[in-house]
Amino acid sequence: MVALIASFAFLLLSSSLNFGSVLAQPTPAQQKRITKAIKNAANNQTVDWTQFVNPFIGTDNFGDVCPGASVPFGMAKFTIDMTGYAPAGYVVDPTQQVRGLSPLHDSGTGSSLGSYGNFEIMPLLCPGGFNTCTTNVNARLIFRKNNTDDASPGYFTSTLSNDIKLEATSTRRAGLERFTFPSGQKQYFVLDLANDLPQSFMGGEMNIDPTAGRITLGGFWGSSFGPGSFKYQAFACYDLLDNGNQKLDEFGVWTADNFGLDAKGLGQTHLNLSVNLIGGVYQSGALFSFENSSPNPATIRVGVSFVSTDQACANAESEVGTASFEEIQQRSVDLWNQKLGKIEIDVGSTDANVTELLYSSMYRANLTPNNATGEGQGKFANTTSPYFDSLYCSWDTFRTFYPWMSLHSPSDFAEIVENYIDGWRKNGWIPECRANNLPGWTQGGSNGVNILADFAVKYHNEAAALGVDLDELYEALITDGQVNPPEWNIQGRQINVYKEFGFVPFAVLDTMSTGRQTREGSRTLEYAFNDFGIRQVAQLLGKTDDEAYYANRAYRNIWDPSVKSDGFKGFMQKRFSNGTFSFQDPINCSPLDKNDTRSCSLQDNNINGFYESSSWEYSFFAPHDTAELINLMGGQTTFASRLDHFFSKGYFAPGNEPSFQTPIEYHYAGQPAKSVDAVRAVVYQNFAIEPAGLPGNDDQAAMATWLIFHLIGLYPIPSTTQFLVLSPFLPNYTIHNSDLGVSTSVNVVGFDKKSLKETIPNNTSAYVQQVLINGTDIGTRCHFDFYDSFRLGGNITIVLTSDMDSVNDCAGSLPDSLSTGGWAKAR
Ligand SMILES: *[C@@H]1O[C@H](CO)[C@@H](O)[C@H](O)[C@H]1NC(C)=O
Ligand SMILES: *[C@@H]1O[C@H](CO)[C@@H](O)[C@H](O)[C@H]1NC(C)=O
Ligand SMILES: *[C@@H]1O[C@H](CO)[C@@H](O)[C@H](O)[C@H]1NC(C)=O
Ligand SMILES: *[C@@H]1O[C@H](CO)[C@@H](O)[C@H](O)[C@H]1NC(C)=O
Ligand SMILES: *[C@@H]1O[C@H](CO)[C@@H](O)[C@H](O)[C@H]1NC(C)=O
Ligand SMILES: *[C@@H]1O[C@H](CO)[C@@H](O)[C@H](O)[C@H]1NC(C)=O
Ligand SMILES: *[C@@H]1O[C@H](CO)[C@@H](O)[C@H](O)[C@H]1NC(C)=O
Ligand SMILES: *[C@@H]1O[C@H](CO)[C@@H](O)[C@H](O)[C@H]1NC(C)=O
Ligand SMILES: *[C@@H]1O[C@H](CO)[C@@H](O)[C@H](O)[C@H]1NC(C)=O
Ligand SMILES: *[C@@H]1O[C@H](CO)[C@@H](O)[C@H](O)[C@H]1NC(C)=O
Ligand SMILES: *[C@@H]1O[C@H](CO)[C@@H](O)[C@H](O)[C@H]1NC(C)=O
Ligand SMILES: *[C@@H]1O[C@H](CO)[C@@H](O)[C@H](O)[C@H]1NC(C)=O
Repeated sequence: MVALIASFAFLLLSSSLNFGSVLAQPTPAQQKRITKAIKNAANNQTVDWTQFVNPFIGTDNFGDVCPGASVPFGMAKFTIDMTGYAPAGYVVDPTQQVRGLSPLHDSGTGSSLGSYGNFEIMPLLCPGGFNTCTTNVNARLIFRKNNTDDASPGYFTSTLSNDIKLEATSTRRAGLERFTFPSGQKQYFVLDLANDLPQSFMGGEMNIDPTAGRITLGGFWGSSFGPGSFKYQAFACYDLLDNGNQKLDEFGVWTADNFGLDAKGLGQTHLNLSVNLIGGVYQSGALFSFENSSPNPATIRVGVSFVSTDQACANAESEVGTASFEEIQQRSVDLWNQKLGKIEIDVGSTDANVTELLYSSMYRANLTPNNATGEGQGKFANTTSPYFDSLYCSWDTFRTFYPWMSLHSPSDFAEIVENYIDGWRKNGWIPECRANNLPGWTQGGSNGVNILADFAVKYHNEAAALGVDLDELYEALITDGQVNPPEWNIQGRQINVYKEFGFVPFAVLDTMSTGRQTREGSRTLEYAFNDFGIRQVAQLLGKTDDEAYYANRAYRNIWDPSVKSDGFKGFMQKRFSNGTFSFQDPINCSPLDKNDTRSCSLQDNNINGFYESSSWEYSFFAPHDTAELINLMGGQTTFASRLDHFFSKGYFAPGNEPSFQTPIEYHYAGQPAKSVDAVRAVVYQNFAIEPAGLPGNDDQAAMATWLIFHLIGLYPIPSTTQFLVLSPFLPNYTIHNSDLGVSTSVNVVGFDKKSLKETIPNNTSAYVQQVLINGTDIGTRCHFDFYDSFRLGGNITIVLTSDMDSVNDCAGSLPDSLSTGGWAKAR
């Protein structure tokens, strides 16, 4: 996803990488430490995988990654909030200033104003005393000292230019903050009640209990990617005394603005503010100091909750209690190793950059969505289901994020699926883009459908044991497939007109629902793939009529065979309800579009027919029936040269999700060796072990998991059990699926490190010649099924050759497509 209100130029900017630029953050010691750990781990029996994780990858170049301290799927992610464009709070850019350290963040989301950042605390030096402290956001801004930021799983630190060092570690809903002041300085802190990153405060309360040394605060804020008429609640509990080691000195409240208001109430303990109806930012909070005899560093315990201040305090008590900073950090490291160790590699024989990219990506693949179980609000208050915040957005995550989770963590996947089903129970439709606990904007169709379908096709045998009722899951899918919501910007689809016309028409009279009538081309293509997801589950449950009904070929209805571009004929186009196509140049909204003011995202004047993408790109999107696209485009040879042209001319936009599918589509043209070349180029042109090492928003690890599949030499077809075979970037790995009690090892015969380049050198072994499972040739080198591999455990052998031409065919069946009889039976 890219920002709603940012222009498309944003997306283009983010795909032109500038690796190797000199940055002042993070500290160079961080990469040195990782490099050394990889080197030293070569002969280790048990490996601490967290030492290979670089949390700063994606904190520059609009990756929007949060490098803060978090446990796996932590609801709390502690990091500093920066000025400028910083949706996750943090960015490396040394020209930006720090607003404070705060406990709630999202990771990878592209909302332009930022997400969360509530309850910032800022340590201060106030040489003139309490009344001179700089409290409001602008007054307290401060640069970091260069080369001081550092992070590892469960830990974050930064040092301000006034020499105060900030550190944080965390549990699921709480954490510890540690502040080291220059010696001899009185320790002052300002705590912010109102400001979140998008400055959306809608009222709240704060109370200081000086005896208990406790500040409780909470209120209402607006969504970072959804309707402004919705608000969410959040609460925090700051315990200041560090189990009695620290003594509070002065305390009070403050209210301030940028125009002279700077009022402080020494000794006052309450604030109760309502929404500021005239607009503008209401700034208010607490200010306190510790007695001079208090220890340095100072430690502060923080609990957060979406339910109440009482629950925020209870979370801090139960999750942190009296544990030390080091104990909490170690617990986090242990939790991370359980997740990271689900893929095990031979560190000694793996390229160091591949190791770092793999485990950093695996880290982010377990960082979101935010596990807010027990913290539901609104309709989710008291829900007995698991509850996850930030499903942000399903359009991003259905392609690679959940298929990757399906390989190793079905019980985590089941919890999230049950949470999606619970969203349908409570709101009537499957959530599409839950942001800040609220329904966010729909980008494509109801892509949550494809996530539920992916779970169902792989784990229908275990579903009940994992807490998922398949019949209910199916009912949720059918609702999204049949029932038009009154307003489809936030959930469901504009299914009424789609059913009537067989595509989503442009400029159609819809008398039954409202929604922004744009993106008719891409919505038709997404709706068709959503339907295919329903078809898959219908097949599984033996619902033959539904299986036929949802075997959707709607994409053919928007294929305009007459449109030409660069000598290629036939493109997806938006279409009027009378059937006439509405011509839009297929290059519009591609990286080659010369019009840098064209609207390509959710804007009401996006008249292009496609969402954050061009017709050049979306014309390749029918993952369930690529064979039919090949037919439409004029056969395998034309299709392959069209893909060649797509990449060489520059229509490929790797910074955003619609491009995920194209590099591997040579497989469907029977040219799998060319997919291998394309994937090498994608990886080395767009990914690196640097803050700018992502081509675009990580989008809750959509990018991270796209990269993981490329590195391990596989590619998932979502909502199916099929995996395409590519060329791994490492000689072997094992994926542990402990919930099933199985492990699957992939061994690459003929692996050659010299192939790890943007362009594979001549005479270098890298192309797939043969695939064996448990030593038996599987009869094609293009694909295999989950039920024959990762579902069972065992070993997969991928034999490589340098003779590309001799293996540039599947030597057996092509991957499945509906129109050629694919997915004939449920597994
Ligand atoms: C490898 O083993 C050494 C010695 O036991 C240990 O200090 C180091 O942390 C280990 N490295 C990793 C990455 O596990
Ligand atoms: C940090 O480094 C940047 C870029 O190298 C430089 O412009 C800036 O002045 C430095 N900041 C401080 C506080 O030294
Ligand atoms: C805070 O103000 C609201 C109205 O704005 C009121 O309903 C509430 O009772 C007040 N709370 C306290 C503790 O005074
Ligand atoms: C590893 O990454 C670094 C930093 O991006 C880069 O300079 C180096 O060339 C890479 N090495 C390999 C072997 O890819
Ligand atoms: C949740 O439980 C509380 C306390 O029993 C009750 O006041 C509230 O109405 C419940 N909310 C919902 C949405 O069920
Ligand atoms: C989410 O949190 C709950 C409550 O602690 C826990 O039972 C569950 O396993 C967590 N889920 C994941 C995926 O981490
Ligand atoms: C279909 O409708 C469009 C938009 O109103 C119009 O431009 C076009 O001429 C119509 N086509 C036919 C065949 O009537
Ligand atoms: C560029 O796009 C804008 C916004 O869609 C549009 O108004 C304008 O006419 C376009 N310019 C050209 C030259 O097509
Ligand atoms: C992985 O591959 C390397 C290099 O070919 C080899 O030395 C090592 O024994 C392999 N490890 C396993 C577990 O197969
Ligand atoms: C690699 O092979 C290609 C095709 O056979 C040939 O055109 C090219 O010159 C070779 N490159 C090198 C560096 O040998
Ligand atoms: C893979 O499995 C086959 C059949 O069980 C076995 O013969 C072979 O030794 C195994 N290979 C490896 C590398 O474990
Ligand atoms: C491969 O071997 C594993 C372990 O021996 C076994 O569980 C699995 O069923 C085998 N896979 C196939 C497809 O036979």
